[in-house]
Amino acid sequence: MNKITVIGAGNVGATTANVIAQKDLAREVVLLDIKEGLAEGKALDIWQTSSILHFNTRVTGVTNDYLKTKGSGVVVITSGLPRKPGMSRDDLIKTNAGIVKEVTEQVVKYSPDAIIIVVSNPLDVMTYAAYQAANKAPNKVFGMAGILDTGRYKAFLADALDVSPEDIHAMLMGGHGDTMVPLPRYTSINGIPVTELLGPEVIEKIVDRTRKGGGELVRLMGTSAWYAPGAAVAQMVEAIVDDQKRIFPVCAMLKGEYGLKNLYLGVPVKLGKEGVEEIIEISLNEEEKKLLKTSAESVKDVMKVLDDMKLF
Ligand code: LAC
Repeated sequence: MNKITVIGAGNVGATTANVIAQKDLAREVVLLDIKEGLAEGKALDIWQTSSILHFNTRVTGVTNDYLKTKGSGVVVITSGLPRKPGMSRDDLIKTNAGIVKEVTEQVVKYSPDAIIIVVSNPLDVMTYAAYQAANKAPNKVFGMAGILDTGRYKAFLADALDVSPEDIHAMLMGGHGDTMVPLPRYTSINGIPVTELLGPEVIEKIVDRTRKGGGELVRLMGTSAWYAPGAAVAQMVEAIVDDQKRIFPVCAMLKGEYGLKNLYLGVPVKLGKEGVEEIIEISLNEEEKKLLKTSAESVKDVMKVLDDMKLF
């Protein structure tokens, strides 16, 4: 791919640009931020690792100059404030909704064909806001949360089982909040159901820690995470750029799938060069359906706050 843009040179944005460059996913990565010099500095710092880490992707930074993002194939939006201790992701909506709207409008002005990946919180609703602002097909606008949340889930499982995290395969659904729905029934260790290897109490503890995984890091660091979020976005970008048709949990627009409509929520999708190429409907038992419904309701509550802001 010729050009990938990352909006926001904070911790998540800069880490995303760094991993994309290290994976050599494009000729150029443009990092953009409103803070004078920040994106230029971080981009230069990353570019100076190219000969050491052996990559060719040119990393450039710009201060709010969207002209430099012109013609991007993929744009990642990380703009907005991160959480502080004691805040939920939903507390960020008032500040971040306006920012995401404005940024998305600028992005589509210069890159009308770009696939847009949203990372700003509250994720599910900010993805919806970007969709509204972008005015493009929903398969081209979606959000990153599920790969991050399953990444946490797999790390906890790998610790509990003392096995390679690479051998753990898992699916997770719902909103990117404490109501997310990790799915032990769809979790295996290279095909061996996790329920064969761990007892229900241990699994429930891991599921609960996964749900609150973002908050655990906010409490430890005073701000939200960036290494795993950045790596997770880069994995989505890779699936798109290389048309890999990977099956990932992605925050996607539902149009009746799982009995839900007009709502962005984490579901299994096929990710390739067209973006979300398919939403996969897996069968859920009564308990899982109930949990997904609760998660959807909590996303809808935050959507109401967005609607009341009358930005669109
Ligand atoms: C987290 C933030 C990025 O879960 O939402 O760490």
